[in-house]
Amino acid sequence: MKKIVIFASGTGSNAEKIILHFKKSSLANVVGIFSNNSRAKVLQMAENHAVYAVVFSKEELNDGVVLEKINAIQPDLIVLAGFLWKFPESIIHQYPDKVINIHPALLPKYGGKGMYGMHVHQAVLNNKEEETGITIHYVNENYDEGAFIFQKAVPVTGCTTPEQIAEKVHQLEHEFFPAVIASLLKP
Ligand code: GAR
Repeated sequence: MKKIVIFASGTGSNAEKIILHFKKSSLANVVGIFSNNSRAKVLQMAENHAVYAVVFSKEELNDGVVLEKINAIQPDLIVLAGFLWKFPESIIHQYPDKVINIHPALLPKYGGKGMYGMHVHQAVLNNKEEETGITIHYVNENYDEGAFIFQKAVPVTGCTTPEQIAEKVHQLEHEFFPAVIASLLKP
């Protein structure tokens, strides 16, 4: 059974979809939720599903404390699902091609520092884009610049608020992210 670790700091709706998907699978299991936000809803969600959870500070992420905890698990895949801090090179180097991120837009558009969550959807709305989407990609040293694994577009012409766009993007994420993770873990 392969091991998935998820980094998340928001509501954790993607993390929950991934947990539920793999509860029904013999391929892999979510064995840890790591969050930098002690008040994040994702922690309550982890408790509800009896998944081991870790809360950490920026110092612990960058000084090796988090890496030690990950090494104790030896995950097959590290999934960033709504994790907004820069991910440390030390972890990326120890887990080459095993750290992936989901971004709520069609990269390379609407990526980079400061482009996360509602900021992305507001920018898409401001620019009157006809479509947006999701990008699942490997994580490297730069925000949102690793090799693409999967992209899917959705039309947003009828949307008048960033919340409406966010809902469409979340639907895509929930539909495709667990399956893309499974395809990466399949032998
Ligand atoms: C997701 O839409 C994800 O794509 C985005 O945060 C949201 C987390 O939602 N990530 C980024 O913006 C990363 N740059 P969730 O907590 O409901 O899964």
